[in-house]
Amino acid sequence: MVEGSSITVTIQFLLLLFFTSIFISASSFPQDSHSQDEHQDKPPSYLKMVANASEFPLEDYYDYIIVGGGTAGCPLAATLSQNYRVLILERGGISHGRLNLMNQEGFLNTLLNANANNEDSPAQSFVSEDGVLNARGRVLGGSSAINAGFYSRADREFFTNSGLLWDLKLVNESYEWVEREIVFRPQLKTWQSAVRDGLLEAGVGPYNGFTLDHASGTKIGGSTFDSSGKRRSSADLLRYARHSNLRIAVYASVERLLLASSSTTFSSSAIGVLYRDENGKYHHAILKDRGEVILSAGAIGSPQLLLLSGIGPRPYLSSWGIPVTHHLPYVGHFLYDNPRNGITFLPSIPLEHSLIQVVGITNSGAYIEAASNVVPFSSPPQTAFIRSPASPLYLTVATLISKISGPLSAGFLRLASTDVRFSPIVRFNYFDNAVDVERCVNGTRKLGDVLRSRAMNDFKFRNWLGVRDFRFIGPALPHDQSDYGEMADFCRRTVSTIWHYHGGCVVGRVVDSHLKVIGIDSLRIVDGSVFSISPGTNPQATLMMLGRYFGLKMIRERERSTDDL
Ligand SMILES: Cc1cc2nc3c(=O)[nH]c(=O)nc-3n(C[C@H](O)[C@H](O)[C@H](O)COP(=O)(O)OP(=O)(O)OC[C@H]3O[C@@H](n4cnc5c(N)ncnc54)[C@H](O)[C@@H]3O)c2cc1C
Ligand SMILES: *[C@@H]1O[C@H](CO)[C@@H](O)[C@H](O)[C@H]1NC(C)=O
Ligand SMILES: *[C@@H]1O[C@H](CO)[C@@H](O)[C@H](O)[C@H]1NC(C)=O
Ligand SMILES: *[C@@H]1O[C@H](CO)[C@@H](O)[C@H](O)[C@H]1NC(C)=O
Repeated sequence: MVEGSSITVTIQFLLLLFFTSIFISASSFPQDSHSQDEHQDKPPSYLKMVANASEFPLEDYYDYIIVGGGTAGCPLAATLSQNYRVLILERGGISHGRLNLMNQEGFLNTLLNANANNEDSPAQSFVSEDGVLNARGRVLGGSSAINAGFYSRADREFFTNSGLLWDLKLVNESYEWVEREIVFRPQLKTWQSAVRDGLLEAGVGPYNGFTLDHASGTKIGGSTFDSSGKRRSSADLLRYARHSNLRIAVYASVERLLLASSSTTFSSSAIGVLYRDENGKYHHAILKDRGEVILSAGAIGSPQLLLLSGIGPRPYLSSWGIPVTHHLPYVGHFLYDNPRNGITFLPSIPLEHSLIQVVGITNSGAYIEAASNVVPFSSPPQTAFIRSPASPLYLTVATLISKISGPLSAGFLRLASTDVRFSPIVRFNYFDNAVDVERCVNGTRKLGDVLRSRAMNDFKFRNWLGVRDFRFIGPALPHDQSDYGEMADFCRRTVSTIWHYHGGCVVGRVVDSHLKVIGIDSLRIVDGSVFSISPGTNPQATLMMLGRYFGLKMIRERERSTDDL
């Protein structure tokens, strides 16, 4: 084995570490309330509502047309279908039958096979102009069908600062609706237990045990992987749908909104959408009277579709020759991604695979999470990583990461093409704002405290002088962690993503507090593009809640206005 703490690694290996591959073992939470009929060998019952887009009529009529069958789109559709005829248009396929998507062990492979343009690849890769490799879900279930499965509710401040007037009782009921179906309690093994103990030694207290709530201190969160490592995603919430009212088209790529201008009110209104099926044929989905189009295409997809439909900054749209339907200057702006920074080391003792199970919620602007990953190591000839000729093909590494809250640094997206299939060009401007740098310095200093805890001693190697130390893979934390400048430099130098990008259609700028697109009738946005702050430690819980919550709100609103008629 290698000696010393600094190890030469290949670029290839570092790239793999981008994709912190994470694995989990979990036990059911609560133990008895999950559906037993949807095991992975049996096709889920929602598949009865799914068909390829080419099988849909060239023109059809719906009360609600939902663009994107993702994390927020599926619970929204399931809810609205209780009372109304609903269509989901999803550009990707389904996860059933794809082992990498169905099992926690496939997390890394899915990301390694991510492809920018192959429509059959469930993870669409993109590199932001900041130079950070990133990914978007492209499958029914959206990013919840490719993610790391950690589940934790939003912080209290999120509900006061998000610009929406939340009914907190309905929020709780909506979270519970999600959790009954797809959230499990994980069982900690060696690495996650050590991280919990290390966080507590480092002062990230109190210990809050297992809880789905956001609370400062250290806790065990929920998981969307069950005890056998099978994934649930937002698509599993479709089992709540009224099957006779919901149609789901896959490989349905929405190209633009159909908009009409009213001669009486000078305002424009959504009347349907134009989509392309897997054979390249065009279909129209049209709204019935009093219906709505809802964009749930995610933080990259929803602003992209507004721009392609002529809703956005007038000069920008004109530069592409896109006819302007409505001048809305901030479409694509206020786009954010929470930077991720951390360290990875080779542990001296064998470790199980583990996905994020424990989180440290500090009071200094950062969240600490961890994983122990098996990374495939293809042993390229030039590597100095393993000297033994019998080098294993797979290595387990341990990772500690810090994610800052917020962030405050904002970027924007712009079109790469007028073809919706090409992902927009995005820029996040990581660490543009000095407060984000300070949060990162605070978070990475806390990582240093965790590394110095007794709980971490077991993972160190003894060097030839008999001194125990970590064997870092990639950059170690700066030696003098009290030096702010060096820590800030580490933050900038080692930035990667935890895939929690959000914004692009934020509340107050693009949508109002009912998530209606400002200036356009019958059009809402329900997904992560409306947030200017990432909710809690990890967003998926709140995005699924949002889908359920707005579905209920819209049903109630419509019933109330019907009473008035
Ligand atoms: C690799 C990875 C790991 C993550 N790990 C975690 C985690 O452990 N815990 C956590 O809480 N969060 C995690 N996240 C973040 C979380 O999954 C996302 O924030 C969340 O899923 C976003 O939800 P959304 O509804 O906004 O968008 P999405 O779920 O991405 O849904 C958008 C959907 O719209 C579809 N779409 C887009 N454009 C079109 C179009 N033109 N026509 C038709 N369909 C279209 C897409 O295919 C997609 O299905 C992770 C994300 C990734 C990518
Ligand atoms: C649906 O379309 C996909 C992608 O083109 C194709 O692989 C699949 O065979 C189609 N399924 C059916 C039932 O036609
Ligand atoms: C919602 O749930 C949270 C956390 O479980 C709890 O603290 C809060 O009081 C609940 N709010 C309402 C209005 O029920
Ligand atoms: C960073 O940590 C210090 C010390 O805990 C705290 O005073 C400061 O407010 C934190 N900075 C931010 C941006 O949260």
